[in-house]
Amino acid sequence: MSVTAIVGAQWGDEGKGRIVDYLAQNADLVIRFQGGDNAGHTVINSYGKFALHIIPSGIFNPDTICLVGAGTVVNFNTMKEELEGVRASGLSGDNLRIDKRAHLIMPYHCLLDGAEEQKKDAKWAIGTTKRGIGPVYADKAARIGIRAADIFDPDRLRVRLEMLIPRKNRELEFYDIPAIDIDEMMDLCASWKEEFGDKIIDSLPLVRDAVLSDKTVILEGQLGIMRDLDWGIYPYVTSSNPTAGGTCAGAGISPRRINNIYGIVKSYSTSVGGGPFPVELFDEDGEKLRSIGMEFGATTGRPRRCGWFDAVAASFSCWINGFTSIAVTKLDVLDTFERIKICKAYRVGDEIIDYVPEISLQDIAEPIYEEWEGWQCDTTGVRSWDDLPEKAKAYLERIEELTGAPIGIVSVGPRREQLLVRD
Ligand code: GDP
Ligand code: IMO
Ligand code: MG
Repeated sequence: MSVTAIVGAQWGDEGKGRIVDYLAQNADLVIRFQGGDNAGHTVINSYGKFALHIIPSGIFNPDTICLVGAGTVVNFNTMKEELEGVRASGLSGDNLRIDKRAHLIMPYHCLLDGAEEQKKDAKWAIGTTKRGIGPVYADKAARIGIRAADIFDPDRLRVRLEMLIPRKNRELEFYDIPAIDIDEMMDLCASWKEEFGDKIIDSLPLVRDAVLSDKTVILEGQLGIMRDLDWGIYPYVTSSNPTAGGTCAGAGISPRRINNIYGIVKSYSTSVGGGPFPVELFDEDGEKLRSIGMEFGATTGRPRRCGWFDAVAASFSCWINGFTSIAVTKLDVLDTFERIKICKAYRVGDEIIDYVPEISLQDIAEPIYEEWEGWQCDTTGVRSWDDLPEKAKAYLERIEELTGAPIGIVSVGPRREQLLVRD
């Protein structure tokens, strides 16, 4: 009976997938609105443990239609593998749909993503997931992309490929990568049509009917604001808009129809990939956050950079996204810390600022912390807000105050039952 957006409030990996999995138990439609298989959304439920990359995290409820929306980019090869993983757990995956407007990640996008990254020196490397995200969105913006709809019309597809493949081959040659063959691409698209043709739809009627008939709709974001193409740490960003603003264009829903915007906030900070990260810790506390929080990328396995909660970034995030509430995840990871810090401002040269500055200043920003006493007890078995330790509640209420949005959900472990909904 509502449209709820689930948005990453930090640098990604906040726990969006597990929140969508939880909410989807009562949802009619879940729509991934941007990004591609660069996502790593970990879901643990009665079917097992899954790292979803492009399939929406509502897939475990067979009554929920899971739409990979118009604003996404799709690699059908990896989607096929992922779907096989879901099917192996006993689910049919028949509830999956892909909008015709989604752009296709072609083999040359992945090759170019890897090659472009390799050419950059350490300072400028974005540390992409090498899933072809930058190159496919670049083609979309340049209006030379291939869309899911194109695989239904081989004549049109061939004409489009004949226009663009010579251009792609020149780029590949620059990186000493062998040329791509048009016939091979045609065959690949034909195999994708065979495999996914019946799932590729015009989603407009589906989404409109769901909204107009007051169904429960969830919009699932990928990544987080700090790597948003416009508002993130450019150029160390992804190539789409994971912010609340991106939901509308990507899912085909007017901003007027969105009732709730849930910011998913980790109780500390992590970032994977290049670029500034002012709260990054290089000490024992950083190590401890990484090992207890098991902070390793769900897509690439890379160790995540860890730090204390950054309230400067969180309040910026709340402003841009307009959160109606937030979900604070991974509270249990802080259980054993004697002291816990919150970054409430940055020192930039002689100045103290409480806003996210332009990227070059983020590079030199030093965090200014306030300290909180840890609760030092196990929260993983707590099942209600009231039963949380007082010191944990005080910490959470401070996050709420500094972020500027009420806490609606807290999680104390990765399982469905370890999610507390606050009254
Ligand atoms: P997403 O990309 O935003 O969906 O987040 P990821 O799945 O990449 O990263 C979140 C990680 O933390 C996953 O390994 C989850 O299983 C795990 N996780 C989520 N919530 C909690 C929690 O409350 N406590 C603990 N200990 N782990 C959690
Ligand atoms: P989820 O949805 C964390 C990072 C990469 C890189 C930058 C650009 O699981 O939160 P890209 O492959 O998109 O061109 O990489 O963004 N990145 C993520 N970091 N979680 C993700 O997704 C990410 N998707 C991309 O590390 O720095
Ligand atoms: Mg992730």
